[in-house]
Amino acid sequence: MESPYTPGFGARPSVLVGRDQVLSRAAATLTRVANSGRSATQVTVLTGTRGMGKTVTLGEIATTARARGFVTCSLSLDSVSDNIQLLAGRIAEAISPLQSRAAPLWDRFVRRLGTLSVELNAGVVKVTSEPHSRGTDTETSARQALGELLARAAEIVAEHDQPGLVLLLDELQEAPRTQLVVLFNAIQDALTTPGKIPIVIFAAGLPTTPEKVMEAASFTERFDFHTLDRLDQTAAERALLEPSLQLHVTWDTDAADAALTAAAGSPYLIQKYGDEAWLSADPEPDTAIELAAVTAAITQVRDGLDAGMFRGRWAKATSAERALLTAIAQVADNYGIARTRDITALLDRTTPQLSGTRKALIDKGIIESAGTGLLRYAMPGFADFVLAATQSRRLYLGQPQAALPTGSSPRATRRAAGSRDLPPAHT
Ligand SMILES: Nc1ncnc2c1ncn2[C@@H]1O[C@H](COP(=O)(O)OP(=O)(O)OP(=O)(O)O)[C@@H](O)[C@H]1O
Ligand SMILES: [Mg+2]
Repeated sequence: MESPYTPGFGARPSVLVGRDQVLSRAAATLTRVANSGRSATQVTVLTGTRGMGKTVTLGEIATTARARGFVTCSLSLDSVSDNIQLLAGRIAEAISPLQSRAAPLWDRFVRRLGTLSVELNAGVVKVTSEPHSRGTDTETSARQALGELLARAAEIVAEHDQPGLVLLLDELQEAPRTQLVVLFNAIQDALTTPGKIPIVIFAAGLPTTPEKVMEAASFTERFDFHTLDRLDQTAAERALLEPSLQLHVTWDTDAADAALTAAAGSPYLIQKYGDEAWLSADPEPDTAIELAAVTAAITQVRDGLDAGMFRGRWAKATSAERALLTAIAQVADNYGIARTRDITALLDRTTPQLSGTRKALIDKGIIESAGTGLLRYAMPGFADFVLAATQSRRLYLGQPQAALPTGSSPRATRRAAGSRDLPPAHT
């Protein structure tokens, strides 16, 4: 049977769990816009480390929006394109089915596209000139043109008795700053245009995106940042068990525990371990996935990460970053959480002395804050790689300090920790 797991980036899982709050807020925003015919007052920005489900969640919001009759327009920003022009092209594509040649609104819309060097002919979008290097003047005109383009597009949507235009902008962190400035100022202009202009904007980016966006845009009070965290234990369990249950395959308890512990609440790793264990077990309906399949899957996935992502990240780390990474791995508790004060003590450095290195590692998505004075690895498993690479040992400087982090199973974690033959915790 084919695996029901979806370990690809942006791949919609067969069972999407743990994002009820953000999805219901998004649904409420759509309702408000449909009800009033006016723009949403806020731009929702989802943030989270790699593999937390930002793209999938944006996709789910888009599906809901389309089911309610909204016109949606999705764009993943990148560092090499003229994202403003790309967005104009996407808007043109999304709006083209609503073309009505006679309408003056349509003419204005097409003129604005022209300002951004985008042509729309019989539903075909063409970029008419290469993106030019933008000086201040061209930035201002790009801002104006994009702002008006958005407003006209939303008006055309409304004219066709559809509730509104939804923009979904992924990978915000990739866009150069000057383009973010143009983008968000244009969005602000569109959202504050008087009249009935129903626009809703959802975006996503890495954890440091809020800083980047707030630096670029002047209307930060309109941003509603929402962190997508690791899945909590019940959601993680559902994400692992339910896809196979749909195919009448169950997981033995110890097998599920081991997979969930290794994944530590990362939606990507749950799919990855689920998939590898499925391939290894090759189950028939009415059978169970056993621990041996999970053990094989963990080895397989870890080997892949060790050889690829982990080795690459480690090779690129500076010596200060390596020292901090090693210290975090050494002092982390059973749940992978390290106290800053244990790190500073071990490295004999003050917190301000380490703050530059800490920020660099957070910006690269390698570590993340786990609460005040607490850090952890963003990708579970990297800590073990670092300990092996540096031949260091975990020190267990204390009992689990933090509240149980979401996504960890205490029972399974204890068992896994015990089985690795670690030194006993100090008390
Ligand atoms: N809520 C969820 N429930 C179950 N699986 C999920 C969920 N969200 C995401 N996944 C799975 O996690 C993986 C990563 O999802 P996604 O690509 O959306 O993450 P991302 O945050 O956009 O990552 P990146 O920062 O690399 O773009 C995919 O395999 C997807 O199927
Ligand atoms: Mg993504």
